[in-house]
Amino acid sequence: LNNQNQKLYEKVAGQILGQIQLGVLPLGKKVPSIRVFSRQLNVSLSTVIHAYQILENQNVLQSRPQSGYYVNAAAPLSDHEPRKVKEFPNFSKIPVKKIDMEVPHVISAFSDPENLVLSLSYPALEVLSFNALKKSLNRGIERQGMQGLKYAFPLGNPALRIQIARHYLDCGLTLSPDDLYLTNGCLESVLLAVNAVAQAGDTIAVESPVFAGLLMTINSMRMKALAIPLDPRQGMDLDSLKKAMRRHRIKAVLCTPNFNNPMGCLMPDDNKKQLVEMLAERNIALIENDIYGDMYLGESRPKPAKVYDKTGNVVLCSSFSKSLAAGPRVGWIAAGKYHSKAVGYKFMVNVGANPATEEGLAQFLENGHYKRHLRKLRKFLTEQLPHFTLAIEKYFPEGTKYSRPAGGSNLWIEFPKEVDSSKLHREAWAKKIIIWAGPLYSFSPKARNCSILQFGHRWSERIGQALKIVGDLAKKQIVNRSS
Ligand SMILES: Cc1ncc(COP(=O)(O)O)c(C=O)c1O
Repeated sequence: LNNQNQKLYEKVAGQILGQIQLGVLPLGKKVPSIRVFSRQLNVSLSTVIHAYQILENQNVLQSRPQSGYYVNAAAPLSDHEPRKVKEFPNFSKIPVKKIDMEVPHVISAFSDPENLVLSLSYPALEVLSFNALKKSLNRGIERQGMQGLKYAFPLGNPALRIQIARHYLDCGLTLSPDDLYLTNGCLESVLLAVNAVAQAGDTIAVESPVFAGLLMTINSMRMKALAIPLDPRQGMDLDSLKKAMRRHRIKAVLCTPNFNNPMGCLMPDDNKKQLVEMLAERNIALIENDIYGDMYLGESRPKPAKVYDKTGNVVLCSSFSKSLAAGPRVGWIAAGKYHSKAVGYKFMVNVGANPATEEGLAQFLENGHYKRHLRKLRKFLTEQLPHFTLAIEKYFPEGTKYSRPAGGSNLWIEFPKEVDSSKLHREAWAKKIIIWAGPLYSFSPKARNCSILQFGHRWSERIGQALKIVGDLAKKQIVNRSS
């Protein structure tokens, strides 16, 4: 090849890399075929082939026989991504008081409907076929009739449990409907799970950063959370977990292998298997939060770690709150060998869940609406992500890093060191913009300049303006600090 050609294929490789960096082509996604890409870019087939090969050699793309090229889910990190926090000093445990203090603060941020909440993930309702859901829910009320007005005892509506068990079959998880019981959402499932496997004073290992609600749940039970670093490509760092297990008596591990909130990273299957096996050997329970599992940006639904569970030691928790709608408050738990303890606790807390709503959702799933909705939702999320990453590139201070999610709808933002994200949170709130600060989600001192951003809303001018305001506030902090 002559020099000019060489430059062209390198340029094309650079363009593809740029699209991966911005999330236009997210991790795990199939890239356009060589033919389509050559047409789009108006370059020869051999140029595209060469570009793909370069990226394959750099482990950025993976070729799969008879299928094409995919963005490698383990693609090497770019300089613009947050790194794994190496280690927490003495494996820090959550300061209980601090989390307690945050709760009223969080509630008041959500209470004002005028606030634009940029950090809370919930499904974009414009994607939802409201009529189909309304019909299903109405049918649920009709079908249940007067029965629906009585206490519903655990385990919850059998038709919905059958549908959820069926849904998991698609990703290789076999559950009997009687392994499942229904809850008022994933946080309640986690609450039941921690209570079934541990007691006040026990230590639960969690990945860090992690959704603050999980820390609050552990905290509310007067248990201690122990921080395990999160690897942006591998999820919970298993070497660190092993080290922590040698030093501490850990009662359970709470983990979100499929798209941790806030990083959106996907734990590889081998790691999931290793995690399940090593915890089973030590009789340490694994509480798996799979709430984002259906929201993959790649090509296929990742397996839950529970697929590898041979001993009933994995407690699977999830809900429809992120993938369909949060308002109905319907979640579930498959607690394995802790089943009867968790059921007992559920009975004690609120007897059972919502029979008519559950019946309605069973209808929604049975008629194929949920699957259709998920296809639309994933397409929607894939379309929204680049709007947010482009806004970060455009409005946030130079040197700002952000995670590359393989799924879910959250981003972890790392501002330059001069930015105090708690101050940024307060300043943005004064302008009715809610962007949570890293210290709510992490105990690492490095989270001081981090924030959480949600990309699951439909992009709008209002969101763009809000991100510009956040960016300007961050830049002002940098100027003030360096002057
Ligand atoms: C990881 C994770 N688990 C649980 C929840 C809450 O789930 P639910 O509303 O079903 O209780 C959230 C919400 O942000 C979350 O991110």
